[in-house]
Amino acid sequence: MIKNKKLAKWVEETAAMTSPDHIYWCDGSKEEYDRLVKQMVDEGLATPLNQKQLPGCYLFRSDPSDVARIENRTYIASRSPDDAGPTNNWIDPRELKAVMKGLYRGCMKGRTLYVIPFSMGPIGSPISKIGVEITDSPYVVVNMHIMTRVGSTVLEALGEKGEFVPCLHSVGKPLEPGQNDNGVWPCAPIEKKYISHFPEERMIWSYGSGYGGNALLGKKCLALRIASVIAREEGWLAEHMLILGITDPEGQKKYIAGAFPSACGKTNLAMLIPTIPGWKVECVGDDIAWMKFRKDGRLYAINPEAGFFGVAPGTSMQSNPNAMNAICRNTIYTNVALTGDGDVWWEGIGYKAPGKLIDWTGKEWEDGKGAGPAAHPNARFTAPARQCRGIDPAWEDPAGVPISAFLFGGRRPSTIPLVHQSYTWNHGVFLGSIVGSEVTAAALDLAAGTVRRDPFAMLPFCGYHMGDYFKYWVDIGKKAPADKLPKIFYVNWFRKTADGKWLWPGYGENSRVLKWIFERCDNKGTAVETPIGYMPSVDAIDRTGLSGISDADMEELLAVDREGWLKEIGLIKEHYAKFGSRLPKELYDELAALEKRLS
Ligand code: GTP
Ligand code: SPV
Ligand code: MN
Repeated sequence: MIKNKKLAKWVEETAAMTSPDHIYWCDGSKEEYDRLVKQMVDEGLATPLNQKQLPGCYLFRSDPSDVARIENRTYIASRSPDDAGPTNNWIDPRELKAVMKGLYRGCMKGRTLYVIPFSMGPIGSPISKIGVEITDSPYVVVNMHIMTRVGSTVLEALGEKGEFVPCLHSVGKPLEPGQNDNGVWPCAPIEKKYISHFPEERMIWSYGSGYGGNALLGKKCLALRIASVIAREEGWLAEHMLILGITDPEGQKKYIAGAFPSACGKTNLAMLIPTIPGWKVECVGDDIAWMKFRKDGRLYAINPEAGFFGVAPGTSMQSNPNAMNAICRNTIYTNVALTGDGDVWWEGIGYKAPGKLIDWTGKEWEDGKGAGPAAHPNARFTAPARQCRGIDPAWEDPAGVPISAFLFGGRRPSTIPLVHQSYTWNHGVFLGSIVGSEVTAAALDLAAGTVRRDPFAMLPFCGYHMGDYFKYWVDIGKKAPADKLPKIFYVNWFRKTADGKWLWPGYGENSRVLKWIFERCDNKGTAVETPIGYMPSVDAIDRTGLSGISDADMEELLAVDREGWLKEIGLIKEHYAKFGSRLPKELYDELAALEKRLS
């Protein structure tokens, strides 16, 4: 018996609309997980990997139309278009509901309707939120098992009258009597896919996609788009940020949160193994941070997730050993390549493809034979966070961890230096607001390679008007004394040389920059005042044991490129113009001050 009447009624109504063959309430048990995986293996939807090397690991191949988030099919259906703002797709909620109800009608025929009660954040934490996802995809159920806390304990926490965010999902592919998926990833064509958010009702409706952020609705849909709206109302922050703990050789520890756009290095930074002796980095979260002020005036962060949905390509024993170790058991792989002996392979795994492979589309693949990549560039692993050796002891602390610094960054081949620090809180908000990055493969419908503005790495994830979001960040700075607020830094690991090579080695070597940031949090470490902010002198970044980076390279990485910045100012003005009168005056002031300092 389901005690929560609102939930029981919603499940009943949804079943009446979608006509599933069965209704199943998920309990979150291992037995349930194993049973669903076995069912998908039997149906040809999952391939068991070599269970000696990769115990409990399975491979899925999605449909080529269903490999990433699709931003132009993602909607914020607030009552007024002004509340969604210029950077979101808005549709009238009534119109959208009518269209989607038409799609949902009978869409689960031949399938099971799964009810997944889940908690974002440790169950019972004052920062956590409960959601319930209804889905017809067992792939979604097993991924939610890893990414969130699922099951009966959540229903208990919900009780009779508890609030939850209803998240409705269907792959949009009903089955005829006797028909099955026949080993083919079920989804609807792109023009029928909808990832819809109703911020006033705090409700999510997703249709037609089974992939990642489109379908695992606790993640981007709840923990960012809906949570950003709730957070503003309630006075906290829901951000697209990694959280890491960093300890210096004396044993002093600080926590840092960082917002980089999709596929721009959050997972890698969160799991970093420092190359400078005596330092330690531990991971609290790799994608999302929920933060609240506590009585001591500091911001405390929790990771609302329980797993990693990480980018596979580029992950290797050299670049991210913590991830490689975490993903060799109980891991779901999607769209990576399969080797002859049931192992996985992807571009940038650190060694050559061992002979012929099966690529992410299911075709035979051989290196150098001119086909596309063997793994899709947005191929991902889903792995439990607790399997990460570098997980922070406090990663599930319901109280959260105190944040000393915010980092912003993106992929910028030129102009933006390796690191600079804001002069003030508002200057830091300005830095967040101008984040730009070369577009990556994390969204399907964008031209990879071009630079676009992705303020606070939240462009695809903010559930309300981005101008109001900037204002909210300005206001956060008034909630605590300056010395309690996190210091704000802008980093760029992605500078390139004229011939297209990385100028900075990145990954573990980023610890050298974190060390400077750590010192700056204690107002130590030499910093030079420049037109763009505080910067380390060339010698202030510890290069002990780092080969291949000359003084000249460091000078280039840490130069203030006046011409580049003046061009940037033109682009920032274009970017700001979109927000009209909703852009806070404080940011125009920061822009004017920067322009003045540069001239
Ligand atoms: P989402 O999960 O999409 O939000 O991405 P993310 O920000 O967690 O990105 P992730 O850490 O997965 O990195 C994406 C890609 O960038 C991978 O291919 C990494 O190998 C690469 N990458 C990460 N850090 C660095 C770095 O410091 N330097 C370079 N050159 N590449 C990096
Ligand atoms: C991102 O695109 O920022 C991700 C992957 O973290 S997804 O969950 O698919 O949105
Ligand atoms: Mn992300």
